[in-house]
Amino acid sequence: MTQLPAAQTSAADHPKALYGGSGTRRVTVRDLGAAKERGEKWPMLTAYDAMTASVFDEAGIPVLLVGDSMGNCHLGYDTTVPVTLDHMAMLSAAVVRGTRRALIVADLTFGSYQEGPVQALRSATRLVKEAGVGAVKLEGGKRSLAQTEALVEAGIPVMAHMGLTPQSVHTLGYRVQGRGDEAAHRLVQDAKAAQDAGAFALVLELVPSEVAAEITRALEIPVIGIGAGPDTDAQVLVWTDMAGMTGGKVPRFTKQYADLRRTLGDAAKAYAQDVVGGEFPAEEHTFH
Ligand code: KIV
Repeated sequence: MTQLPAAQTSAADHPKALYGGSGTRRVTVRDLGAAKERGEKWPMLTAYDAMTASVFDEAGIPVLLVGDSMGNCHLGYDTTVPVTLDHMAMLSAAVVRGTRRALIVADLTFGSYQEGPVQALRSATRLVKEAGVGAVKLEGGKRSLAQTEALVEAGIPVMAHMGLTPQSVHTLGYRVQGRGDEAAHRLVQDAKAAQDAGAFALVLELVPSEVAAEITRALEIPVIGIGAGPDTDAQVLVWTDMAGMTGGKVPRFTKQYADLRRTLGDAAKAYAQDVVGGEFPAEEHTFH
């Protein structure tokens, strides 16, 4: 008798799959750990306002980052450096209000945690209490371990961020990090140290894919890549890059899935032409 092939199942078919599963409650950091154990890959996006966040939440994106990339993508700055904790608290609260399921992670902004664990705790507590986020992210390896330990001790989940850390643009520039044996070794050691300090996940930005793959294998916590190749547990993109909203040049590691800038510009022009031509408002838009 001919043997029928076994049904093909993958981690993404699991009922608890972070993307595509049947869960409706808010995603927690424990869910991310379980996904790593199942070998499930998952997507993360940035969000900076309630309406956009609701679109991504309805699309099933399980983790949204209120990134300090809001400096470049939302607030009109050239870097993430000028973003304040006030900006972060206000926009994180909006993203929380716009979502029902996604885990919301907020960035600790430049200058809001570098002084040490006490300052980090004060800043993170504000984001958790006032904005309602489920976790915070901070940049740096060994230099941020004391802050990570203090937050985790206080019950605040911490996502670490290494490789290219944009808050250090004035010292690092925007260059691939972790190239060469010594730099790669330092990055692996930093990643392990963050895990030991209690971080629940690690973002690796702009590092060689071989190094990201090694770190992903070495860590028990999920590793989220951006410009770090295909072998990390998850991927994150800045939403304005992903959806074609960013003007000008976007990084090579970004894939553009829509052309929102053109679509929105065309809508604005069509509206303007209707107004100038007297075609808007028409009778159906008018009250008597
Ligand atoms: O601020 C941000 O958007 C980030 C991502 C690039 C990971 O930190």
